[in-house]
Amino acid sequence: MHKPVTIVILAAGLGTRMKSRQAKVLHQAGGKTLLQHVIDTALTLTPPERIFAVIGHQADRVRQAVAGARIGFIEQREQKGTGHAVMIGRDSMAHLDGYLMVLYGDSPLLRSATLRRLIAQETEGSAAGILMSAQMDDPTGYGRVIRDGRGHVLDVVEQKAGTPEQLAICEANMGIYCFRADLFWKHVDEIQPNNSAGEFYLTDMPAILTRAGHTVEAMQIDDPGEALGINDRAQLAMVDAIFRERKRSALMAAGVTLIKPETITIDSAVEIGMDTIVEPFAQILGKTTVGENCRIGACSIIQNSHLGDAVEIGAFTLVNTSILERGVHAGPYARLRMDNHVEAGAHIGNFVELKKTRMRAGAKAGHLAYLGDSDIGARVNIGAGTITCNYDGFKKHPTQIGEGAFVGSNSTLVAPLEIGAGAYVAAGSVITQTVPPDALAIGRGRQENKPEWAKKRRHLAKAVEAIKSGD
Ligand code: UD1
Ligand code: MG
Repeated sequence: MHKPVTIVILAAGLGTRMKSRQAKVLHQAGGKTLLQHVIDTALTLTPPERIFAVIGHQADRVRQAVAGARIGFIEQREQKGTGHAVMIGRDSMAHLDGYLMVLYGDSPLLRSATLRRLIAQETEGSAAGILMSAQMDDPTGYGRVIRDGRGHVLDVVEQKAGTPEQLAICEANMGIYCFRADLFWKHVDEIQPNNSAGEFYLTDMPAILTRAGHTVEAMQIDDPGEALGINDRAQLAMVDAIFRERKRSALMAAGVTLIKPETITIDSAVEIGMDTIVEPFAQILGKTTVGENCRIGACSIIQNSHLGDAVEIGAFTLVNTSILERGVHAGPYARLRMDNHVEAGAHIGNFVELKKTRMRAGAKAGHLAYLGDSDIGARVNIGAGTITCNYDGFKKHPTQIGEGAFVGSNSTLVAPLEIGAGAYVAAGSVITQTVPPDALAIGRGRQENKPEWAKKRRHLAKAVEAIKSGD
């Protein structure tokens, strides 16, 4: 077993180039905040009590946004450089043995496997520290890695301070490190703000450790894109696209069919079962799970919901915070707005809206209905145009419909209301009182036919026309 690893995530920067009122690390890519991605990766390497985020800009909001992760926070009130950001964590971290790894909150693409390799190389060798580097065609902006004849890292030179010979080096510092914790804390105070920016540079550590008689190594990664830091909205969009692509590939590898995958958006936390088919332009977001053998229709948006096996979602359907059990059909053009529970085999057709509604097994609402705050019994049939009037301008009221009831088309159900099991509501009714089980409720004006009325009216109109034209 390796000695334990402590991970510090630098996330105090404002991110000026994002041009945002929101701290950079709170922007989202792949359906998660940038910082959450890095925390989730860190959690695959070490327990939460060994993970610390250095926060500064909008510290409270950042802390709140990732509160669930149970990691530690270090507040850096003034951003005096990457070295300073780690130094101020001494009280929280210096007593923790093993290794200290540094990550950036704005570099969410790094894979756990890559970081594992960095840790392995550090823990299996004798170096005091290791940094991640990459050969780049154009390393402009990055620190350059200066090695000695044996390949050990002597120094990292920032773009601003480099001589032309140093700037010609194409091995760039990715800014990710793993140090022996005891040596790091012993020497970190030797970092001096003796550069043009007046900052404490973490990149001074290789030279400091080398001077103290230790060695520092570099591990090159093949794809510098993995360490890409987000600075502006264009890079945010690029990273978002990469996360989407990673998620789609993983799902396809696990037996999910994506039709025109490049058009489909699926958040990182979504789970989808085997043989489910997702049609073009669908979006499956948040903490959603989809069972096996489902079909998610084109342009649908499913968010924070749970779909059992064999669920069919028609095109252009919106499902939010709802549970759909096995074999449910919904859509096309349906809206399951919030907190609905649709039991096995129920059917929700086009232009039906559900809110806080339970549809029990086999219930049907085929067309054009609004069902809010209601409990619709098993095998109930809701006719086209049925509306639950759940709101009286002050409060919401419930509607309860018993098993096997039949609600005729264009019924207006004024809540609070109970319709008994097996009852029948005549089409076009306005129902304001309890309907007993098995009763027929009719609540509408009685029809009256006036014989010949239309014919007479036509004759009269013709006569008036004749007088006007003088015939
Ligand atoms: C740093 C490295 C550079 C490397 C590059 C890779 C230094 C001096 N340079 O430069 O060698 O090639 O990363 O991307 O380290 N941060 C804080 N508090 C601070 C300063 C920074 O939390 O006081 C955070 C930032 O929010 C950011 C990260 O640390 O997430 C990196 O800081 P940044 O200023 O972007 O460093 P670079 O100039 O990119
Ligand atoms: Mg940077």
